[in-house]
Amino acid sequence: MSSGKRHTDYHLGNTDAEHERLIRQAIRLAPATERFFQEAGIGSGQRVLELGAGVGDVAMLVARIVGPSGKVVAIERDARTINRARVRASEAGLGNIDFVQTDVAEYSTELEFDATVGRYILQFLPDPAATLRSLAKYIRPGGILAFQEGSWIPFVSLSAHVPLWHAAVSLLHQAGVRSGVNLEMGPGLHKAFQDAGLPAPHMRLEMELACDPDFTRWVSDSLQSVLPQIQKLNLSLQALGDLNTLQERLQKEVATSNAVVPWIGLVGAWCRKPAN
Ligand SMILES: C[S@@+](CC[C@H](N)C(=O)[O-])C[C@H]1O[C@@H](n2cnc3c(N)ncnc32)[C@H](O)[C@@H]1O
Repeated sequence: MSSGKRHTDYHLGNTDAEHERLIRQAIRLAPATERFFQEAGIGSGQRVLELGAGVGDVAMLVARIVGPSGKVVAIERDARTINRARVRASEAGLGNIDFVQTDVAEYSTELEFDATVGRYILQFLPDPAATLRSLAKYIRPGGILAFQEGSWIPFVSLSAHVPLWHAAVSLLHQAGVRSGVNLEMGPGLHKAFQDAGLPAPHMRLEMELACDPDFTRWVSDSLQSVLPQIQKLNLSLQALGDLNTLQERLQKEVATSNAVVPWIGLVGAWCRKPAN
């Protein structure tokens, strides 16, 4: 099982700017992710395998939940990204995380885990059910599989009342679809879990609605990360005007419309591995 794509084709890239975007995004998503992991049963003393660690935010969140008697093994394939994650975890004084540089499709271990988790990772994989099936081997019977993935349908549709914002969101959506990212991986977790031989998961959808500049910059930040893909796919940026002033104009539009805008729907799905 291979990712089938060259690493350099990763949709969001791995620039310093993308790392900073991930950190800002993680601060905003942390409460929803923490609530979700606690609902799924992630707790003190557990050994947890995390997929697609990025710059380490989910690993650090889980490391704090499991505490010093627990352990997190976090998988990330990109060298620069995982180095940043290691430095951040060390600066945060978290000694209970092992970062492993590998493609999730190539990970194998002698360890047994109490849980496997991930956020915004299965959407990039060519066969998420096969990945879940293969990694479930390392989870003890009764252990937890808990993943949060996106849903863009409510995001795009609830953006329609703010024209420039909607144009930017629609372009991001088009770029993701054309690059082969599964933007409806969130709702798709119901089928992916069952195709992996797991029980139908418990599921929920969370979506923040807001209008502050820290929130609205999510769209212009993401456009910067996806820009090389947009250019490669020859998609038109015309509707957005000057990208250097996009954030300012987006924020002004949202503020003057006296409305809130959404971000990608965050779908959580979790189940316990059957005992046999
Ligand atoms: C959108 S980021 C999410 C990071 C983190 N989970 C979070 O929510 O902050 C996805 C990360 O998965 C990594 N990734 C993508 N495909 C991967 C694969 N096949 N194996 C390992 N890591 C992968 C990317 O390099 C990127 O750092």
